Amino acid sequence: MTDVTFVKDKHIQYVIEQDSHRSFEYWLSEHLRMNGLYWGITTLATINSLDALPKAEVIDFILSCWDDKSGGFGSFPKHDSHILSTLSALQVLRIYDNELTMISSEKRTKLVKFIKELQLPDGSFQGDRFGEVDTRFVYTAISALSLLDELTKEIADPAVDFIMKCRNFDGSFGMVPGAESHAAQVFVCVGTLAITDNLHLINQDIKLASWLSERQVLPSGGFNGRPEKLPDVCYSWWVLSSLAILNKKHWVDLEKLEGFILSAQDLKEGGISDRPDNATDIYHTCFGITGLSLIDWKKYNFKEIDPIYCMPVEVTKNFKKWKNLSS
Ligand code: FPP
Ligand code: ZN
Repeated sequence: MTDVTFVKDKHIQYVIEQDSHRSFEYWLSEHLRMNGLYWGITTLATINSLDALPKAEVIDFILSCWDDKSGGFGSFPKHDSHILSTLSALQVLRIYDNELTMISSEKRTKLVKFIKELQLPDGSFQGDRFGEVDTRFVYTAISALSLLDELTKEIADPAVDFIMKCRNFDGSFGMVPGAESHAAQVFVCVGTLAITDNLHLINQDIKLASWLSERQVLPSGGFNGRPEKLPDVCYSWWVLSSLAILNKKHWVDLEKLEGFILSAQDLKEGGISDRPDNATDIYHTCFGITGLSLIDWKKYNFKEIDPIYCMPVEVTKNFKKWKNLSS
């Protein structure tokens, strides 16, 4: 049993102050601002503190990142749209409003077109019009269409075919066919299979869950993303969410993982780092806290997080189930 406490109030303050760190690095990170907003809002939503940020201002910022020409969201006003910033925007908007009333039907139509046109003939998705392909973008597009209740079989079936081509001999998944297995890529691939109701394609095989459980590094108890790498708090999410989707969370030592995440907190300033004593950032703060939610949300008085969407279950329970979607 770990003796480090969870410093909730410090973490709330840490998220609120993200926008006031006007450092050189802050200005260099405009391209990640929408993802950063999603990480911050997800952190606050998970610890039942969503009202710590001004809802109207957050929504205004997101809408100011709309790129009317392409029909997607950029990471910052006047930036080109990208599938990653588009999913983050939709996730935050849907956390605030299940009906997505702030998106007009005209914008919704453009959004669906923008996402669908990123799909390539082999079923994969490029992240934007510049053509980079990665299983991350497949998950991101499928999740975004699902959030919009616009996922169809014509889109999902080829995407699933592509995902299955990215599976390796060890049961795990990589970025593209033939690429090295990586735990974060497992999350996006297993997440895509879960959203599209295709887990039966991998559930008979214990190789993947074995590979995932081998990510726990002793004595720290933290997870790494690949064999021989150092443990890192963000893999608490990428690995444990995948095990949760496969119903195999009990294959790892959750108490040790919990101790590792708590020990990476900055107890004075708030925030969580990749590993103890390193500098904190909002990405590792989000995935440390969502990881703790997967471990024991009741104990911390957190919201329960959906391992498939990385959003509170009270939001995702309203998503239309894939089976009921028309093709
Ligand atoms: C590794 O990041 C993470 C990935 C390759 C997966 C990212 C997944 C998405 C963006 C999809 C959307 C995700 C959610 C939760 C809605 P990294 O290699 O930069 O991390 P590291 O350097 O800390 O290991
Ligand atoms: Zn990390």
